[in-house]
Amino acid sequence: MAKTKIAYFCQSCGFESAKWLGKCPSCQQWNTFVEEIIEKSNGSVPDWKATSSTTQQRANKPIEIPDIVFSEEQRMLTPDKEFNRVLGGGIVAGSLVLIGGEPGIGKSTLMLQLALSMPNLKILYISGEESERQIKMRAERLDPSESQNSKLKSQNDSEIEHPKSDFGKGCYILTETSTQNIFKQIEQLEPDLVVVDSIQTLHSSHIESTPGSVSQVRECTAELLRFAKESSTPVFLIGHITKDGMIAGPKILEHMVDTVLQFEGDRHHVYRILRAVKNRFGSASELGIYEMLGEGLREVSNPSEILLSQRDEPLSGITISATLEGMRPMLIETQALVSTSAYGTPQRTATGFDTRRMNMLLAVLEKRCGFKLGAKDVFLNITGGIRVEDPAIDLGLAAAIISSHEDIPIPFKTCFAGEIGLSGEIRAVNRVEQRIAEAQKLGFEQIFISKYNLPSGGKDKKRIDLTRYAIEVRTVGNIEEVFGLLFG
Ligand code: TYD
Ligand code: MG
Repeated sequence: MAKTKIAYFCQSCGFESAKWLGKCPSCQQWNTFVEEIIEKSNGSVPDWKATSSTTQQRANKPIEIPDIVFSEEQRMLTPDKEFNRVLGGGIVAGSLVLIGGEPGIGKSTLMLQLALSMPNLKILYISGEESERQIKMRAERLDPSESQNSKLKSQNDSEIEHPKSDFGKGCYILTETSTQNIFKQIEQLEPDLVVVDSIQTLHSSHIESTPGSVSQVRECTAELLRFAKESSTPVFLIGHITKDGMIAGPKILEHMVDTVLQFEGDRHHVYRILRAVKNRFGSASELGIYEMLGEGLREVSNPSEILLSQRDEPLSGITISATLEGMRPMLIETQALVSTSAYGTPQRTATGFDTRRMNMLLAVLEKRCGFKLGAKDVFLNITGGIRVEDPAIDLGLAAAIISSHEDIPIPFKTCFAGEIGLSGEIRAVNRVEQRIAEAQKLGFEQIFISKYNLPSGGKDKKRIDLTRYAIEVRTVGNIEEVFGLLFG
């Protein structure tokens, strides 16, 4: 007989409890517990190769590290260079990758595009969200030859038969939500790669709670994990994200999978960033940049050129900062507007930047440099709809604020890379050489950096040879020095 068990799960962190609780002891959230019926079927036979793992479990013995046979992981390179980079150099065989992102950001598009780009592999795209027709329509939109075809069609009507193109070959679509049925199909098809869109729509018959609930998501992921490891097939899971940035419901998913990628961006802007949040097979600070076009996502291999707007005359309040996103140097344009406040309390708004950090910068500018910003509205904006966390952007932002305040434009072809400390000192930033090189590559004439980035700032610092740059590297110690040089 099947045994019915009821448990309560925290919808926010996945904490399991035998009775209902008002406050989750694990994540401290209130009112997050919901009742779920977990009905384990007889003996709880796992689905993937039902007999193997439970009945004849292989007991492992401890092995000394030198005796462990090490072989490079097998990696599958995709034609998408940004994707390979984020994964740490291609898809690892048998890895389970979770792709999270807000609804409508382009997760399905990204995965379908990936599936379509490798015609020599057998790829199974499992969708619990869209019908086959919908996916076909999306695929046609992504077909590079399609735009020309449709032009031809409209000219010559439909009399001429179009040869059935090879586009989409090797990409199998399965609209199914039961893991049991999915594994049946997988056994027949033997795909080289599996995509699940999305994990929240799957359900396993071993557990009797609704799809998307914590116990279902956990069970389905566990089954797919077992499949991925035993068959060495890479599996991609798409997961929705709740408003506060958590992979919906269970955070526990993040512990189970090998890699977590976050697909983010502003839906009203075209740029999308694919960021590795966790990666067992590579660096977790990598990111890939895409542009969402009418015909799918396009890789952006040189982000700086797009993030900088083209201007003919210098404007006040605009500066360029040499930042580092992950391992990648990127020049980013920041804009500031400082104006007299119409109301008693001045407004401070920052887009793409931490507001608290902006307030700190304003306080430093007021206290250390004597600018009266207390009664001013200050608006900061980082162009391109991206979010920057690199502290090296401080100097550029401060310069933008003062440039707008004084209404003096920053000279053309000038950029900045420095963190500002509470006493107004310019602090050293990491990988300064990479930043200088990027600025030089894009034709900048001068870059302001901290003098503490130079050898005199610390004995153990690597020597930086400034003479080998064509760009003028100006080193500064504090914020007043910068303004003296810029605004005289
Ligand atoms: P989608 O992949 O469905 O998002 P998700 O799976 O993350 O919910 O992407 C939906 C958005 O992308 C939708 O607003 C339309 C847009 N889009 C394009 O701009 N160009 C395209 O080629 C495609 C397929 C979608
Ligand atoms: Mg989708």
